[in-house]
Amino acid sequence: MKILITAGPTREAIDPVRYLSNRSSGKMGYALAEAAVARGHEVLLISGPVSLPAVEGANTIKVITASEMYDAVQAHIGEAVDAAIFCAAVADYRPACVEEHKIKKDDNEQITLVLEKTADILGSVRGKMDFTGLLIGFAAETEKLESYARRKLQSKQCDLIVANHVGDAQTGFDADDNQLQLFFADGQQQKLPLQTKRLLGEKVIEIIEKMGEPKT
Ligand code: CTP
Repeated sequence: MKILITAGPTREAIDPVRYLSNRSSGKMGYALAEAAVARGHEVLLISGPVSLPAVEGANTIKVITASEMYDAVQAHIGEAVDAAIFCAAVADYRPACVEEHKIKKDDNEQITLVLEKTADILGSVRGKMDFTGLLIGFAAETEKLESYARRKLQSKQCDLIVANHVGDAQTGFDADDNQLQLFFADGQQQKLPLQTKRLLGEKVIEIIEKMGEPKT
């Protein structure tokens, strides 16, 4: 299969020295890319800024901002991609204007940052980008995991949402281990218990392979 994977956080500039970002390390997305390469798939990894070694055997495109990630996905999703896995923690908002020079403290006790919405990349691939392959999204939640995951499954027209609980030290952002709950479009669900992200990557890729098999 040809598999496109987004991974890592994005960074949204405030001024030349500051940015908004999040705690994503990229470990889960890179583990998926490694597992997919190991299982013989052609992998296109679109990665935000991470401090992880490159995935050998994957074709990697490095981006910084949500807008660059959108453009990279749009440019490549049409290239006979069989499955697209959106694991990146994309910024939902960015500063509405980026200051040309470093913002100075002066006498201001408070300053206000005006944010504008970024484009929802995963939410655009079915409609705007015409993608017809397998579509897998992630949902990082701190509460109401199942209802939020099912809502994303529907609103982003995915075949599968891989949900995980973030906010604990043991799992989620930057941890080496994770536990996942999978919600399929046909209503089924599956739990993958606590284990390394590398092992989880292999299991998720295996599941996607099965989803891609012709139905008999
Ligand atoms: N996603 C994306 N582009 C965005 C935001 C999210 O492609 N601008 C993708 C993520 O890669 C993930 C899924 O959408 O696969 C869900 O991301 P998440 O941050 O959990 O949810 P949001 O859609 O951003 O909604 P909310 O922040 O309200 O939970």
